[in-house]
Amino acid sequence: MGDIPPGLPIDHIGIAVPDLAAARAQYEALGLHYQGTEEVVSQGIRTAVFTCGDQRVELMEPLSPDSPVGRFLEKRERGGIHHIAFGVTDIKTELARLKDQGFLLVDEEPRIGAGGHLIAFLHPKSTPGALVELVQRVD
Ligand code: CO
Repeated sequence: MGDIPPGLPIDHIGIAVPDLAAARAQYEALGLHYQGTEEVVSQGIRTAVFTCGDQRVELMEPLSPDSPVGRFLEKRERGGIHHIAFGVTDIKTELARLKDQGFLLVDEEPRIGAGGHLIAFLHPKSTPGALVELVQRVD
């Protein structure tokens, strides 16, 4: 294992839930450590962040049914895994590199996400099976 490059680290898993308070209680009981709740109006979500080791789980409740996460829940009433986020150190350079590789970008420019960190989503057509987010942590 020693000489295998580690690759992009997972920053967090985003999970869409219909009821944030109920979901929070369940994930706390599971053993994740609750960090806080935040409304991210630009994404139409209220999010509760948990730590689990070096990674996080981000529960997302839609602020309205016609938001992206609200529409996601239309087909999955009980919720479901919505996206996987990878951590990068220079998100602008990484977006340019991925665009050169032929990836389609939802966000051509990084935007401010939960926690004030810089984020960008890749187009789901580019990453079969998963919606992928990039995160550059701003601490
Ligand atoms: Co996320």
